[in-house]
Amino acid sequence: MALQAPSSAPTAAPPGYPEIHAGGHKAKEAVPTFVNMDDPDHAAQRAMLEDEFTPETVRRKWRPVMEEVVGAVLDEFVAKGEKEGEKGEPVGLVKEFAVHAPTRIIYRALGVPAADVARLSRDSEIRNSTSRNAAETANLELQKYIAGLVKQKMAQPGGDDDDIISKLVAEQLRPGHLTEDQVATLAFLVLTAGNAALINSIALGVLTLLQHPDQLADFKRRPEELASRLVTEITRYHTASGLNSRRAVKEDVVIGGQLFKRGEGVICAVQAANRDGDKFADPDRFDIHRPGMRPEDTLGFGFGPHRCQAEFFSRAQLEIVFSKLFKRLPGLRLAKGETELAYSEPTMNVGVEEVPVYFG
Ligand code: HEM
Repeated sequence: MALQAPSSAPTAAPPGYPEIHAGGHKAKEAVPTFVNMDDPDHAAQRAMLEDEFTPETVRRKWRPVMEEVVGAVLDEFVAKGEKEGEKGEPVGLVKEFAVHAPTRIIYRALGVPAADVARLSRDSEIRNSTSRNAAETANLELQKYIAGLVKQKMAQPGGDDDDIISKLVAEQLRPGHLTEDQVATLAFLVLTAGNAALINSIALGVLTLLQHPDQLADFKRRPEELASRLVTEITRYHTASGLNSRRAVKEDVVIGGQLFKRGEGVICAVQAANRDGDKFADPDRFDIHRPGMRPEDTLGFGFGPHRCQAEFFSRAQLEIVFSKLFKRLPGLRLAKGETELAYSEPTMNVGVEEVPVYFG
């Protein structure tokens, strides 16, 4: 393949590899993860997490956790919103709901003790990182916490817990396939890789549904039947992880009549591909009823060997969030006009800063 990830050697990324954040170059000096490797190293390390993210594991192991956590976060959101509502004030969907559901789920999946979750959830890294820049962040406190947790789980005799860190410790660290640092870095990647994209997909998804009341009414009537279509269309329409697919050109290649020269950097505009009129009829229209729409035809979760490892995990979470939210709060409505909302900086994940809502 002509487009490759940065070299598997962390200090020798190919020239031209495009870094968006200043920390990117520094990150190459850190412990690398498979995100920044090419196959076969990429595939070998990616396989260490694969079992946790298969459709079957998501159905059996993670869906019940997601149902429980989203239910609890909704209870808190409803309590907060009712209190604000009594004063005639709106409540912030992002601050009071969208941030908490994915964050608590991923902490649970990693095996972070409940007592630590409230403190750690306030961390801004959780709000802003992507798989690409997870390694670029300088959040030493959070990284140290995860490293400490790995150590703690390593010290526990037996260690047969079912969470992701415990499994990495049992299957990779104890037999010596990975070092303690590598396990901590992988766990940190899982923690930060997709949280921002999930938060933004929830916020943008709710906003878009509220702007399309006919489709929202359909979804409220038939949530089980339409949840998967809804999630596919939201991830196509918004491409929350838009600047995430970056590559260096390995050998000269012509794509769409354009020459890409060896050593050049490429930021793949997957958001443009998701709005390609040759592929999607009337692509700028939001439409959960698109005929023949298949998740694998859309690029919200990337493409090729680096396609999002947690796609099924993320899709399940979004399905549960939208279904539960509109079941519990069928009268949810926007408290501000579309033009009054602030969107994220263009160099960040695609997102909206806040979506103020009333419950009815
Ligand atoms: C709506 C939510 C999400 C979206 C839209 C999303 C999107 C993406 C995209 C576009 C890529 C490809 C990057 C590339 O081409 O280089 C990617 C990779 C990745 N994502 Fe996600 N992601 C989401 C959630 C998650 C979550 C929750 C996790 C972890 C639990 C996660 C873990 C990863 C990992 C580990 C990779 C790297 C895969 C590889 O290099 O082989 N993602 N994601």
